[in-house]
This record gives sequence, C-alpha cells and structure tokens, in this order.
Amino acid sequence: MNLERVLFSQGFGSRRQCRALVTGGHVSIDGVVCANADADFPTHTLTFVVDEIAWRYHEHAYILLNKPAGYECSRDPQHHLSVFNLLPPQFATRGVQCVGRLDQDTTGLLLLSDDGQFVHAFTSPKRKVPKVYLATTRHPLDDAQLDALRAGVLLHGEPAPIAAVAARARDTHALELTVLEGKYHQVKRMVAAAGNRVEALHRERIGGLELPANLAEGEWQWLDEAGLAALRAG
Ligand code: URA
Repeated sequence: MNLERVLFSQGFGSRRQCRALVTGGHVSIDGVVCANADADFPTHTLTFVVDEIAWRYHEHAYILLNKPAGYECSRDPQHHLSVFNLLPPQFATRGVQCVGRLDQDTTGLLLLSDDGQFVHAFTSPKRKVPKVYLATTRHPLDDAQLDALRAGVLLHGEPAPIAAVAARARDTHALELTVLEGKYHQVKRMVAAAGNRVEALHRERIGGLELPANLAEGEWQWLDEAGLAALRAG
C-alpha cells in the first residue's frame, strides 16, 4: 500500500493532507524520512512515525478504554466531555465508534472500533454477550433484591421481565450483576426495580474480556488477537 493511503487509512487526515504530510518530510520509517507518497510498503508489520507520533498499521482499530466518570460515549456530547477527548484524534478521523454505550457517570471497560461488522455483532440484541458490572448501592443488599434480579424485573417500556444471568453481593453495598442485554440505563433501572439504587457503576468484563488491571482510568490500549478471542469466548 502506498504511504499516502497508509496514512489515510489510519486516520491522519484527508488524502491531500496525508500526501502533504509525506512530501513535507513529516513521515519516517525505520528512522529514515520517506518523502515519496507513492512509495509502497507491506502493511503487515508496518510501523511509521508522523511528527514524533509512532504508529503501527492496523487494518481495523479494536481498542479498549478504561472510561472515567464524566465522559459521554458520543462524538457530539451534550453536557460533558467526549470519550474521544481521551483518544488520539486519528481514531475519530477513521470512524471509530463506541461498541455500545456507558452512561457518562459509569466507569470501566469500553470497547471502540471502526469495524462496522464487529460493532454491529457486539451491539445486536440477538447476540447475547454477558457483561459484568459492579454496582455500589445506596441501601444494603438483601436476598429479596438478589432473587428479584435473578428472577427478572419488569422495566418501563419493556414487554417482558429482564433477568440478570447472575447477581451476587460482594459486600453489603457492592452488587456484582451480569446481564446479557445493553438497554438504556439497564443496570440502574433493574436495581431500582428490585428496590435499591445505584450510586456508582463500573463495568468489569464483556464476554471473557476483563478490564486489564494495569490500565489506569482514562487510558486506552489496542485490543490484540488474544483480547478479541477472549471477548468472543465469553
Ligand atoms: N447500565 C446502566 O444503567 N448504565 C450503564 O452505563 C451501563 C449499564
């Protein structure tokens, strides 16, 4: 693939901007400036540097973010910052989007991708992917609440009760809840329907993919093959 197309595919701007970056001497490969926008490179293991930004070619972007509170999962946020403020601008330029949304005050594991099929597969209601949340509750948890969550609670606007795959108290105010759907405010509404209230919400896992313990809040990382396999395995 020629260098102009490489940069364009990775989100470094329009075709014209990418050509200008190359011909202007801003791009180097293996420590050598390459000013020929038509020079061909195998993309498989290609790493390049644009104005000191080192970038590894990825045909598709699959990334995970440890989302902090106070960020909206939208490129056009209404009241808060966007999660895209936490990511290199190349991701928005190449059409990366959130794979399902977390509320602005929810923290934890958020996936993003520019692979439309992947986004669709993981957000489709038909594909039941377990998602594990840790909810801090206002009131102490009790067996009646946990039983109601497991048996299913009726949410406004839903035709049938929605049941958690698993619900257990890790502590008096710490609820681990696993759900298959991704409905609007689902966990908060389920907990409210069971007679309690969510004070804080954190997503720990999607499928078999856990939020890496070494990924600080607000940090992101590429999701590698092992991560994608773990996601599907769940
Ligand atoms: N359920 C909610 O209520 N909020 C989220 O952000 C995710 C799941």
